[in-house]
Amino acid sequence: MKRTRWYKDAFIYQIYPRSFCDSNGDGIGDLRGIISKLDYLKELGVTAVWLSPCYKSPNDDNGYDISDYRDIMDEFGTLEDWEEMVEGMHKRGIKLIMDLVVNHTSDEHYWFQEARKSKDNPYRDYYIWSKGKGKNGKKPPNNWTSRFGGSAWEYCEETDEYYLHLFTKKQPDLNWKNPKVRQEVHDIVKYWLDKGCDGFRCDVITYIAKEDGLPDGRWNIALRGDEHFNNHPTIHSYLHALNKEVLSNYDCMTVGEGPGMNVENAIKYTSEENEELDTVFTFEHMNTDTYFQLIPRKFKLSRLKKVFAKYQHGLRNKGWNSLYFENHDQPRCLPRFVGDYGPYRKQAAKMLAVALYMQQGTPYIYQGQEIGMTNYPWKSLDEFQDVMVKYVMGVINKIAPFLKGYVFKVMKWRARDNARTPMQWNDEENAGFTTGKPWLPVNPNYKEINVADAMKDEDSIFHFYKKLIRFRLGNKIIIHGTFRQMYEKSNDIYCYERSYEGQRLMVICNFKNKEVGFKLPAEVVYDSAELVLHNYDYDRKLEDMKLRPYEAMVFLLK
Ligand code: NOJ
Repeated sequence: MKRTRWYKDAFIYQIYPRSFCDSNGDGIGDLRGIISKLDYLKELGVTAVWLSPCYKSPNDDNGYDISDYRDIMDEFGTLEDWEEMVEGMHKRGIKLIMDLVVNHTSDEHYWFQEARKSKDNPYRDYYIWSKGKGKNGKKPPNNWTSRFGGSAWEYCEETDEYYLHLFTKKQPDLNWKNPKVRQEVHDIVKYWLDKGCDGFRCDVITYIAKEDGLPDGRWNIALRGDEHFNNHPTIHSYLHALNKEVLSNYDCMTVGEGPGMNVENAIKYTSEENEELDTVFTFEHMNTDTYFQLIPRKFKLSRLKKVFAKYQHGLRNKGWNSLYFENHDQPRCLPRFVGDYGPYRKQAAKMLAVALYMQQGTPYIYQGQEIGMTNYPWKSLDEFQDVMVKYVMGVINKIAPFLKGYVFKVMKWRARDNARTPMQWNDEENAGFTTGKPWLPVNPNYKEINVADAMKDEDSIFHFYKKLIRFRLGNKIIIHGTFRQMYEKSNDIYCYERSYEGQRLMVICNFKNKEVGFKLPAEVVYDSAELVLHNYDYDRKLEDMKLRPYEAMVFLLK
């Protein structure tokens, strides 16, 4: 099978199905809701959808805990709905990328239900079991922590052993050392590719291989054990086999979620000759406004630019990058990266799009980003639904209850539920998301921020995204061009040049909510400069100028 590597010239839209569109009034988004919005996606111009998990699941972690990999979650619909959805996408020239969650299953998956019964059950080795430590074996086997807080081990009475769960205790980790587990994953991947899906986003894929002997991790304030299961060397043979035996037989794509990823590892996973993954999601740029990936830290543009440049240069001709500011695990990017935008919400959102998407890599939009949706005004900790908040609160209540107020402040800004409030379709009840009671409250700003209004307003963020997407698709300078940064140290301006076969794009973005002076760098020499993207409605020449608040421009230089 010839791999066309279509992902290098794609624009991908992430759907979090629970919050996208509800067709049957139960307050939960579903596949028929997605079907009803396919024309909208076509109009926006995206060429692929990454769909967060829609498989059968008890929903401890909203579908990232799968109990049947070959069927659809009851709340979301049926396999027939899925088939109609994928057919509708393909008819519109949109590909479908499914979420592949195979670091762990749900504890309600048949394999785990069997595995927990006895030590000699045929499914026992599908998971990772160990005897407890301490005098009477009542201490967890090692000090690894769940990514959500607390020990990563849960005691199982039936066999007097613990099982590993790097997420919630309802998400037991699969044992990839077992060839049967690897074969099961191959079969699942083949099943969906044969049904017509076009690729996979591989959930926490860098965690699948664990160190033999499960040694203690070095001390860390919250995330212990990483060095023994994140990017473990054995992972490469597992991914290579999956690629050779299954993926390479299809013209599909994979994007691996890589917490703790660095340039060197990203190259190992995505270099074409290694034949593992096609692309990865890295996190470094998302941690430029935190300490220890946890505690809020004032955003500084120079930090973000440094990370961007590192990956733009580092992966060039060696691997392939992904470009994103939002997803279902991150708070909304407004005002995260632009500060207090005041009356300039539209300009700020458009500027962020220019800054990010003129770089090299596969671009992703998360639902609602294209209309500038914002974080929710949470009033108390009880409002959050996310299991991560519940885990964190469990730990805080146990060890430092006096920190509750501070944790609420952090969660207001950081909680994943910020990105999971229902999609704002119009200014009617529940923002047009459902006729029932939405599973998570709708952001009260839906009267001003919604798709219907954005589509009517020629100057909206939505229309700017449409323009940007059309400009980017097929544009060889953006897909293949070199990257050169100017104004490297500036905390106000992000300025870079992309260059390919004698043609150049010059990108200038003001990250400040006020006017900022711009001096055209002396090395920028050209015969003609055409303004091809601009988030203000007047003409600009490429020269020394005062940039308006959040002004963003792209010039085509010849
Ligand atoms: C990463 C997913 O994006 C997140 O939502 C989930 O909680 C964890 N992996 C566990 O599957």
